[in-house]
Amino acid sequence: MLHESKKILSGKEVAEEVLDSLERRITTLRGEGVQPGLAVIIVGSDPASQVYVGSKAKAAQRCGFLSRKYELPEEITQRQLVEVIATLNQDEAIHGILVQLPLPSHIDSDVVIQAIAPAKDVDGFHFTNIGKLSAGHTADALLPCTPLGCMRLIEEVHGADLSGLCAVVVGRSNIVGKPMASLLLAANATVTVAHSRTPDLAKICAQADILVAAVGKPQLIMADCVKQGATVIDVGINRIANPAAGVGATRLVGDVDFESVNAVAGALTPVPGGVGPMTIAMLMHNTVRAAEAHHARARYPRSSPSMILPHV
Ligand code: GUN
Repeated sequence: MLHESKKILSGKEVAEEVLDSLERRITTLRGEGVQPGLAVIIVGSDPASQVYVGSKAKAAQRCGFLSRKYELPEEITQRQLVEVIATLNQDEAIHGILVQLPLPSHIDSDVVIQAIAPAKDVDGFHFTNIGKLSAGHTADALLPCTPLGCMRLIEEVHGADLSGLCAVVVGRSNIVGKPMASLLLAANATVTVAHSRTPDLAKICAQADILVAAVGKPQLIMADCVKQGATVIDVGINRIANPAAGVGATRLVGDVDFESVNAVAGALTPVPGGVGPMTIAMLMHNTVRAAEAHHARARYPRSSPSMILPHV
């Protein structure tokens, strides 16, 4: 371990480090007349999505980006939404486009995500970016923000090379589980993906040196799922009843039972204040990368993207 004493992995603190380290690159871009531009699209009025989108727009403003928020009505058609994206694809001032998920059920989110130009896909959800990640071409892909943030927290404990370490990802979503497994594999970990149909989940999880929980089930991961000294990354954000604080009160918990797991884990992310702030910091990171790449393409139109995109 790099930091023997670090037990609670504060995403808040590490996210600040990520944002600080972006400052120099943003200043360089500004010196060259480029202001990174991020467009965030939200459809409908889901309260949780509103909060997430608000945090993303606020972080973009803090970074000095051009930050545009598109609040579109629940009834918008898929065609109209794709047209908004097509316009943003052509907009020279916008380097990153993010469509907050989930979308209303009458809209096919795959169609919408694939309408985003891969070079502006700061969520890393376009098939082009997923394909590059799966093929190990991480240097010229835009990578999904939450898994990227998890990797940065894991790096705090284990460094960038995870050779010899066993990682278990619980959850197989396209947003977190699958790209997380690809990133861990790219970092040389031995990776297992467990999910809702995995028998004896506790036994599989207990083999992990690095355990990433991304299932959306409150406090699913108990101490019996965790090896002594393991690094545990909790991606879940679940709102549950909190009767101790009064009738109707709620609180946020992760997919990990913090109290019991804290007694066995070597390092553990809290909820809130763990992975959440890292996702936002990595969105800023991706927007800067997209702006840098766009600017480099404008200056050297014949360069291949892999020559101009810096490493993560
Ligand atoms: N909804 C939940 N997580 C995410 C995310 O990382 N990106 C987008 N666009 N929507 C989400």
